[in-house]
Amino acid sequence: MQPVAASLQGLVWSPDHKRAILRCMRMKLTIVVLLAFVLLSAAAFRQSAPQPRSTPDYTSDGQLKFPENYREWVYLTSGFDMSYNPAQTAGHDMFDNVFVNPEAYKSFLETGTWPDKTMLVLEVRAAKNKGSINKAGHFQDTDVMGREVHVKDQARFPGKWAFFGFEDNKPAKMVPLAAECYSCHSAHAAVDTTFVQFYPTLLPIATSKGTLSAAYQKENAATPAK
Ligand code: HEC
Repeated sequence: MQPVAASLQGLVWSPDHKRAILRCMRMKLTIVVLLAFVLLSAAAFRQSAPQPRSTPDYTSDGQLKFPENYREWVYLTSGFDMSYNPAQTAGHDMFDNVFVNPEAYKSFLETGTWPDKTMLVLEVRAAKNKGSINKAGHFQDTDVMGREVHVKDQARFPGKWAFFGFEDNKPAKMVPLAAECYSCHSAHAAVDTTFVQFYPTLLPIATSKGTLSAAYQKENAATPAK
């Protein structure tokens, strides 16, 4: 036995084998260090990547910051050339698109109304009819004509909701309470001062949950849909 053990020992601890083992260990260490580096940098990236906000965010002087990622929110409708006054037309064709933050949308599906921190964005675009292969009808221009935001923030606004108009992506001041926006929305909008009667996926929910405003129901009964 002795000679076999001795020769084995000689085999294992020969200088060549030592070098081979060391090389192997170094490689393993390099792999572990590289792996740790990849994992750590992935964690750091996750922490430092800015989380897109879908709740209202204000500047220190109370202006609403523009919700940059609203185009990734839930789409509610597109209105085409809608006018609230029969004598008044804009003189050019326009689309408006309405979006809502996903958390508020989910809550609406369950309750038929809007939770605190709801944000709805109305985006206005010119309607074009000449372009590419189009021969009839209208499509939306790439330029945005305006964006308005309706925010529910019960602790901040006396009427629970407030309007903001944005000309660009800079923070905007609240539209004063005396503006027509507030009176038309509270007198005619179907759910909690929002025009759910024009949002086709939400109207059936509000109807079945019984959250339609009394004013809207009265108006609707007086002018039944054709
Ligand atoms: C005479 C009535 C009337 C007035 C005044 C009015 N709106 Fe509206 N608003 C509407 C209607 C109708 C819709 C639905 C649009 C659609 O279906 O595409 C709407 C939708 C909106 C929406 C989408 C979210 C929601 O509340 O339903 C925003 C945001 C909005 N309006 C902002 C404003 C602002 C800001 C003003 C004032 C500068 C204003 N509105 C004035 C009738 C009005």
